[in-house]
Formats: sequence, structure tokens, C-alpha cells
Amino acid sequence: MKNVIWFTGLSGSGKSTLTKHLCRHLKTHNLSSVYLDGDDLRHGLSKDLGFSHRHRVENIRRIAELALLMSKQVNFVIVATISPTNDLRGIARDIIGKKNFSLIYLSTTLKVCIKRDPKGLYKKASRGIIKSFTGISSPFDTPSSFDLEIDTNELTIKESVNKITAYLKI
Ligand code: ADX
Repeated sequence: MKNVIWFTGLSGSGKSTLTKHLCRHLKTHNLSSVYLDGDDLRHGLSKDLGFSHRHRVENIRRIAELALLMSKQVNFVIVATISPTNDLRGIARDIIGKKNFSLIYLSTTLKVCIKRDPKGLYKKASRGIIKSFTGISSPFDTPSSFDLEIDTNELTIKESVNKITAYLKI
């Protein structure tokens, strides 16, 4: 069974919220899981990296290697990282292995993410205070392929988790 679930989506698209809820839900089904969140990792493991494409490649490489190791010890590894371009998602898929990798695209629009702006980062990015910000001054590509799409502006957290567990056949 594919057991690395990789969420891609803009900042503010709901990745962290969904991954946490999904982990909680899996626990109630006696399934072990861990989540790796881009924001957390950038405070530690990837502290030395910025947001140039080269640094994002290295960030994704580290996260994917970590996810691969962990995937051998738990039922599910849930990853939440912007991973904004198809080549970055491809790097993750190649490291983890196609057979073990599911890509979930959080398609919440940029407009909605800017409106939510939970960390005030879009405001800073639009004023130029933060450079190379995904969606504003750095690209976010619609994934060329994915296993599941969720728009957190249209579904509740519960509905989103249900959609994922239905896909995972749990
Ligand atoms: S990724 O592009 O390399 O996949 P990652 O998911 O690890 O990004 O980190 C994204 C988080 O870093 C965002 O949620 C945001 O809080 C923070 N951040 C700070 N600067 C930037 C930036 N320039 N672009 C995107 N996210 C940024």
C-alpha cells in the first residue's frame, strides 16, 4: 500500500491543518503515522536553507529522504510542504518510489490563501519585505499529475479527511 502521503499547495492552503487531522483520524483506526511539516522543518533540519529554487530542491530532498526512512517504521508518513513545482514533486517521488508515493494537491486558490493569510506573510510578500514568496514572487505550478485534489475552501476539514481516507480505503 502507498504509505507516503505528500501534500502540495500554497502557503495557507490548509496543508498543516489537514495533515494533523488526518494523523489524528488514522490513530483512531489504530494506524500509526507521523507528519512532517515544511514550516517545522524549516526551523530545524532545513534552517540553513532559503527559498531559491536550488535551496527548495535541497529542502525537498531532505524531507523525502526522511519520509522514506520513516515510511518503513509507521503505517503512514504525511508530508506537508509547498513543493511548488513539478520537478520538486518529481524529486520527492523518485526518492520515495512511485509505488509508495501519493500526491494530494490542495487546490485552494491564491485569492483565498491571500485572504486567509494566517501568518501575515502574503502581506509582507506583496510589500516586497519577503522575497521569492510562492504565489507572489515565486512560481507555484499546478501539478501535472496528482492522486487527489482537495479545495479546503469548498470542503470542511472533516469532509477533506473523509475524502482522503476514502482514497486510502481506510
Ligand atoms: S518549499 O517551497 O521548500 O516546499 P516549505 O513548505 O518547506 O517550502 O516551507 C514553506 C513555509 O515557509 C511557508 O509556509 C512559510 O511559512 C515559510 N516561508 C518563508 N518564506 C517563504 C517564501 N519565500 N516562500 C514560501 N514560503 C516561505
